Amino acid sequence: MNASVRHFLDLSTCESAELRRIIDASAAMKQVRRKGQHAADRPLTGKTLAMIFDKPSTRTRVSFDVAMRELGGETIMLTGAEMQLGRGETIADTARVLSRYVDAIVIRMLDAKAVAELAEYATVPVINGLTKLSHPCQIMADVLTFEENRGPIKGKTVAWVGDANNVLASWVHAAARFDFRLNIAAPEPLAPPADLLAWARREGARVASMEDPEEAVTDADCIVTDCWVSMGDEDAGRRHNLLAPYQVNSKLMKLADDKAIFMHCLPAHRGEEVTDEVMDGPQSVVFDEAENRLHAQKGVLAWCLGALDR
Ligand code: CP
Ligand code: NVA
Repeated sequence: MNASVRHFLDLSTCESAELRRIIDASAAMKQVRRKGQHAADRPLTGKTLAMIFDKPSTRTRVSFDVAMRELGGETIMLTGAEMQLGRGETIADTARVLSRYVDAIVIRMLDAKAVAELAEYATVPVINGLTKLSHPCQIMADVLTFEENRGPIKGKTVAWVGDANNVLASWVHAAARFDFRLNIAAPEPLAPPADLLAWARREGARVASMEDPEEAVTDADCIVTDCWVSMGDEDAGRRHNLLAPYQVNSKLMKLADDKAIFMHCLPAHRGEEVTDEVMDGPQSVVFDEAENRLHAQKGVLAWCLGALDR
């Protein structure tokens, strides 16, 4: 891998100070956009972003597209099936070729090894737009959203309730990098993988894994959940049975701090992992969170392409 290329593959592979720089830049760009001034500063003019989406996406795809355009750049949307990748061209060769045309690549592909391989052979930044193992761009938007509502995340408590999936893995990475406490409530068969918890311990992160959702959320500053069946999961019936006691409802929200917020990366499955009452209630910030994908993507793109250094 070319060490001088700034990939955004995981929060675990980025330094805390760099992540903070991205969050602060994202917040600043949000303010500029609010004032209707985003057309004035187009730091990525002349740059092109290739977007490879091998799986469905609404937020990641649209927010990256709009972010790149608002920063002055261009985008090319691709799906794995319509590329020669779908006919067996290797990831490494695809990386070598795309690097000759574009300035950065966003990729959504469940196979995390394939995304790592793309980064290994690309000579332009590769951004992880979700794999089966993590979703780092989402958590950048989530940290931004948390801080807008509850102030600095350092020292606060976030409670994850539900499947310990790819989104949760990036929350674990974030707990280490941003120094907050993370309580994870998941049924034992869907608990966080041992290697992820071992990583958190090595990093000195304050991450606790438990089965009881009430214990996890008590006095928390934020409750966060995600769907019970992620892309690529083939055991929906089993997951519904295991996760039924992990629904985020008003009763659970009441156990958290009075000012606690509710977050969800979306898409939500109302009536499953979260009730309408919570989704549409006063503590929910899910649509601000979705909006913040746009601002966070700008921060990530600007960082990867060196525009935050100027
Ligand atoms: N939260 C999120 O990544 O949404 P999409 O799947 O719509 O991109
Ligand atoms: N955990 C979900 C997130 C979707 C944005 C999935 O991987 O399908």
